[in-house]
Amino acid sequence: MKIETSVTRLLGIDLPVIQAGMSWVSSGPALPLAVSRAGGLGVIAAGPMYRDDLDQAIDAVRRGTDRPFAVNLPLYRKGADEVLDLLERRRIPILIASQGGPKRYIDRFRRIGTVCLHVVASEGHAAKAVAAGVDGLVVVGGEAGGHPPPDLVSSLVIGRAVARALPGTPMILSGGIADGYGLAAALALGAGAAQLGTRFMLTPEARLHPAYRERVLAAGVADTLLVGRGFGVVRVLRNAFSDAMAKAEIAGVPEEPRRAMFERASLKAAAFEGDIDAGKIEAGQSAGLVSEILPAAEVVRRIVEEYAAATVAMPRLTTAPSPMDLENAG
Ligand SMILES: Cc1cc2nc3c(=O)[nH]c(=O)nc-3n(C[C@H](O)[C@H](O)[C@H](O)COP(=O)(O)O)c2cc1C
Repeated sequence: MKIETSVTRLLGIDLPVIQAGMSWVSSGPALPLAVSRAGGLGVIAAGPMYRDDLDQAIDAVRRGTDRPFAVNLPLYRKGADEVLDLLERRRIPILIASQGGPKRYIDRFRRIGTVCLHVVASEGHAAKAVAAGVDGLVVVGGEAGGHPPPDLVSSLVIGRAVARALPGTPMILSGGIADGYGLAAALALGAGAAQLGTRFMLTPEARLHPAYRERVLAAGVADTLLVGRGFGVVRVLRNAFSDAMAKAEIAGVPEEPRRAMFERASLKAAAFEGDIDAGKIEAGQSAGLVSEILPAAEVVRRIVEEYAAATVAMPRLTTAPSPMDLENAG
């Protein structure tokens, strides 16, 4: 099964389905391997990984498939340059960099043939990344889990804006997409693929504490909250931590104590240790669109099936028959 687009051609994959790099959740080989094997693009999230673990995860994915995979690297992480050295040495097929500028890595990775994708959340950053020489963009809209763009422009709007501004650039749209209907919408806007984060959290392959998974499963579309305004907004599910943050913001608590509260809570505590009261339960609005836990390969298969259903169901443009048509019809 194939759906061919500018992005599938660029990346050498069969389906325009990208599993989002998610710290902890895809910081190991299982989820990326399952998605790449199924014909999409699996992404190892290097953010919180020790270099040895990352090295081993790359090996494990390579042992499991000869299909392409990617590594996501937030450039602000401690030791990012050493991780870049490792990724260059391992000649990874695809790099997806976020939270920083492409100049830091672009020349050396293009030289070795690595496809370089850059995560952006505005037209300005998109244009700068393309001018710096990236091969394609991951454009993130305000619905996204984790770190959405500070201006919260929705995927529907930012996706279309970037497609209009940079028409020849392969673009992957991310944020709020949970199924094949969302994929059809992304391709209609001009993207060449969709990237799904929250959807792939609800798979057995995701490295996620069961308590976290259950909370995402139970969430509705309106159950996320934005916290950390002024120093790095994250979209999280409501819990004791996010409610306390929201209260502090409304009460006008000064930035420093709010920041301390924000930094005391972590994604690791929720995702790895299962502390779903005090930790950050990062998830997108699309948590409300997901109602079952399925193997990642089955998620990919269903996305394709839904994409087919969505595109077939689109109303065709019809016009009233002209006198000539009627005459020809006899
Ligand atoms: C738990 C979690 C962890 C994330 N970690 C990262 C990360 O390490 N690097 C990154 O570039 N984006 C990260 N993101 C953002 C995702 O890559 C993606 O843009 C987002 O999940 C898309 O929105 P969706 O969840 O609505 O599909 C994370 C998102 C979540 C939910």
